Amino acid sequence: MTDGTDRTLARATIGGIEMAYEDHGTGLPCLLVHGFPFDHRQWRAQLEGLADAARWIVPDLRGHGSSAAPPPPYRMSDFAEDLRGLLDRLGIDRVVLGGLSMGGYIALAFAERYPERLRGLVLMATRAEDDPDTARQQRMETAARARTGGAALIGAEMLDRILGGRDVDPQLVEAIRTMILGTSVEGLVGSLEGMAMRADATPWLASIECPTLVVVGTEDQLTPPSCARHLAASIPDAELLEVPEAGHVVALERPEIVNPAIERLLARCR
Ligand code: MLT
Repeated sequence: MTDGTDRTLARATIGGIEMAYEDHGTGLPCLLVHGFPFDHRQWRAQLEGLADAARWIVPDLRGHGSSAAPPPPYRMSDFAEDLRGLLDRLGIDRVVLGGLSMGGYIALAFAERYPERLRGLVLMATRAEDDPDTARQQRMETAARARTGGAALIGAEMLDRILGGRDVDPQLVEAIRTMILGTSVEGLVGSLEGMAMRADATPWLASIECPTLVVVGTEDQLTPPSCARHLAASIPDAELLEVPEAGHVVALERPEIVNPAIERLLARCR
């Protein structure tokens, strides 16, 4: 099958779950992890703009896009195990691992378990901290509504939260809406419950040894620049990039700024 941009999606069964993913290009292996509730197309602007810069492995997480959707919850460690299984299947030992938002929580969960498998880290529009009680409660309420109404019910409010009432290119809004509406009920519920369960990564950030790029849009209301500054200040070899006129989906919104920064990180990791 294709991903709508004429690229073929490969498939592999990892730990009993069928995962869809892109795998193309040559050289330094880079694994990019999308946010909630998106799919691999969230990285479209990097796959297009940086096609020749690396080997790109870009999966749909369980419950999202074209991957299978096992029963909830999906802990960040479950996602991290799926990624490790995919890398094992592909025979890849060490990668540059990038994640946006929930993808960043998952990248951190992977980094905590498998630091020896990292050559570099990209943490985009994300945070180290766990949810405060009120946010955790809200996630569980949203999960309950998603169970009955699916993405169609919560899609509009998600879009509002993600775009933060900003004036964004209509094509971009449509691309985001399409990804949200393509997310299964299990994917919505599983990820919301899993994010609510995640632990604070702050205590071990100082042990991250690989070169790290931290990226945030200056207008991101879900994971504001203060979260990125905390990450960059806590990780020893981290560079912070604050991207003007960008919100939460910074990778899609401002690739002309984000892509050169990724290229610089790749050069540091080679
Ligand atoms: C995401 O974009 O992955 C989520 O909005 C992250 C979150 O809700 O914490």
